[in-house]
Amino acid sequence: MNPEITPAAATPFSTPWGVFDLTRFPEDPRERLRAWDAADEYLLRHLAGEAGGADGATDLAGRRIVVLGDRWGALTTALAAHEPVQIADSHLGRRATLANLARAGATSDPARLLTTRDTPPERIDVLLVRVPKSLALLEDQLHRLAPAVHPGTVVIGTGMVTEIHTSTLQLFERILGPTRTSLAARKARLIFCTPDPALDPGPSPWPHRYALPPDVGPVSGRTVVNHAGTFCAERLDIGTRFFLGHLPTPAPGARVVDLGCGNGVVGTAAALAGPGAELVFVDESHQAVASAEETFRTNLGPDARAEFLTADALAAEVIAPGSVDLVLNNPPFHSHQATTDATAWRMFTGSRRALKPGGELWVVGNRHLGYHVKLRRLFGNCQLVAGNPKFVVLRAVKR
Ligand SMILES: C[S@@+](CC[C@H](N)C(=O)[O-])C[C@H]1O[C@@H](n2cnc3c(N)ncnc32)[C@H](O)[C@@H]1O
Repeated sequence: MNPEITPAAATPFSTPWGVFDLTRFPEDPRERLRAWDAADEYLLRHLAGEAGGADGATDLAGRRIVVLGDRWGALTTALAAHEPVQIADSHLGRRATLANLARAGATSDPARLLTTRDTPPERIDVLLVRVPKSLALLEDQLHRLAPAVHPGTVVIGTGMVTEIHTSTLQLFERILGPTRTSLAARKARLIFCTPDPALDPGPSPWPHRYALPPDVGPVSGRTVVNHAGTFCAERLDIGTRFFLGHLPTPAPGARVVDLGCGNGVVGTAAALAGPGAELVFVDESHQAVASAEETFRTNLGPDARAEFLTADALAAEVIAPGSVDLVLNNPPFHSHQATTDATAWRMFTGSRRALKPGGELWVVGNRHLGYHVKLRRLFGNCQLVAGNPKFVVLRAVKR
């Protein structure tokens, strides 16, 4: 069983720094997934010298602590008294951290909640790394943080056993210094790394650029830019490819949203097909939004105008209701280990709210996901635009 799944999502997070009632974002009373796991617990017990073994407590007093990749803010919240700096890619994770700090009665100085695109602190004394799902993101972020790490920096990673591979340890070794792991405890493991000032890992190899194939409509042969961790950063996704072959041409002046934009290839195709359209790129990943902006500017010119928003689905606070003509959407199938249905449903309901009467939502998805049922329920209509054995492109109109 997935150790993160428990029928009692409300189980409090018990740590040496106190007991915390944590939430994911958006908060959902039916949510069965906890906002913390055994990897978070193990790291905190280790820091307090309560994890067994020879190591005593880690001295945190007065030291600049950086928490990289904290999923829902469990580590940042537990260590709030030490004023850690959090560095994370996910907008949802940041919103959860803010909510969890507030629940814990802690202050949440926005200067301490950095994104993976922000300039990192100049000096790091304690670096705590919640190993991300994406090895590329870990590689990129370790490269960015390496100049701030000094020989006295305590570097500790944590993750579930299934998330820590030889390649993960090799990254720490290659970028920061000699690395070893702890014994496993409740299927979690710690990573201990001793910074080696003689190492010169060089700059991050990210972002990655690749040329699109010659048969994908307006973006044929064009270049896409991918910051580390972005969806399909190495090659075009086959669902996206199918979508590109069936996109509508936006009318001049139409406001078009590329929802869950990833590297921005879909919105860029729409902008090339309909040069008068106003494009809005939305993703919950800061890495994705930065990629979309670079893909768009690479193909439309450095001065081309569009909006680039980091947000959850089409939240009303970022896109005014009734202001959009067309939404293009390839929903995620996995989002933070949560059921995709929930994210797709939020994207569809947000799209309906954002669309003008007569506006359209175009969705590509795996045939077996049955998005047409949801769209019909929400919009009262849903038309099959194109299909192959694996994917469908669907269109729903706001009446
Ligand atoms: C299947 S990918 C599609 C990416 C791109 N449109 C393409 O077709 O290559 C889904 C995207 O949705 C984003 N996403 C996941 N949850 C989201 C949310 N709640 N709000 C906005 N974007 C989200 C992911 O970061 C990812 O970039």
